[in-house]
Amino acid sequence: MHPEDIRAVFHPGKPLEHTSSLVGQAMEAEPRLDIELAKLLLGQGSHRAPDQPTALRILEVLDRVSAGTRLARMISPLLRHADPQIRTKAAKVIARRMENFDWIRAQLLKAEPRVRANMIEALWENGDPECVEVFRLYRDDCDNRVAGNALYGLYVCGEAEAIASVLRMASHPDPRFRATAAWLMSRIDEPKFANVLKTMVRDESRSVKGSALKSLVRLSRTAGIAQDPSHSKPAGTGPAEPGSIASDNYFVSWRPEYSVHIDAIDRQHQALVALIRQLQQAMWEGRGRAFLDTLVDRLVQYANGHFRYEENMLREQGYESLAGHIEQHRILTRQVLELQHRIQTGEAVSGASVMAFLRNWLTEHIMQHDQEYAAALRIT
Ligand SMILES: [Fe+2]
Ligand SMILES: [Fe+2]
Repeated sequence: MHPEDIRAVFHPGKPLEHTSSLVGQAMEAEPRLDIELAKLLLGQGSHRAPDQPTALRILEVLDRVSAGTRLARMISPLLRHADPQIRTKAAKVIARRMENFDWIRAQLLKAEPRVRANMIEALWENGDPECVEVFRLYRDDCDNRVAGNALYGLYVCGEAEAIASVLRMASHPDPRFRATAAWLMSRIDEPKFANVLKTMVRDESRSVKGSALKSLVRLSRTAGIAQDPSHSKPAGTGPAEPGSIASDNYFVSWRPEYSVHIDAIDRQHQALVALIRQLQQAMWEGRGRAFLDTLVDRLVQYANGHFRYEENMLREQGYESLAGHIEQHRILTRQVLELQHRIQTGEAVSGASVMAFLRNWLTEHIMQHDQEYAAALRIT
């Protein structure tokens, strides 16, 4: 492809969805297209590496259309790229794909703060128990963005210690950490944070004040819809301490029959189970609706990443009913995006209805459609 054509196809002004779907379709005819694009980014093709905006857009598209570790290994030299934006974007794409935590730890040790922060962020949706270890290691990082992302990772993994750590960060002597703590407080949505934020808006640092104010506004927006009638506790179970995990009998948990016997996919499905549990916990504590904002963003990310990964794997394995499976993914993606739209436009969506949707995803898609390919791949 001529450099001018590449610039036209990957122009950042074009909708990412559209470009990704074009490249995704092209990859069905040319499965090595992602590798060719990676080579182009590294300046290894017959043409020079593209300019920064084009390179960033190519990385974004590759992130959506190419699964597996092959791409991650190919683009790892970009971690040393002269442009910091390309370095950080590459770090995110790579960390999302790597299942080898030794490699991630090694990269985190040598990488600059921006790159480290992005790599930690990319692990938010990984769902591997080893992530928790990485988050614990970096929650006291000397850089506020790295520490903040690590704390958020702990929270996403359901680690209750994250709440206490955020409160500690809120009184850090360095204002950059306090500003990060204020940002975290709006993302984590713990009821006791509102009072802390009210104190933080009087902080001597302008950036802390600004961050605290923004978080308070975000919290007050969600507080209006926080009273979810679905939060009444199930009969026969006692009250839970705020921030604690309630009776396990009530919560969805991973079961052996969900397994498709492919480790990477099982881990991704476990991440969905973890999201369902977080919603259950939030509903249990009476903040079901307030949590939906965060949940739905994570679901959109999850659906994009997981479906892309699964489809590429099935394509590589030559799965016969791939088209039907992709259609099922499209339906789920559309439903998730519709849900996101309803929540973002302030429609009163109940935690219970989202829970029903997620349970359905688990029992209908994972237990039926995903099990169909698992059975087919075991035979071939
Ligand atoms: Fe799946
Ligand atoms: Fe699937």
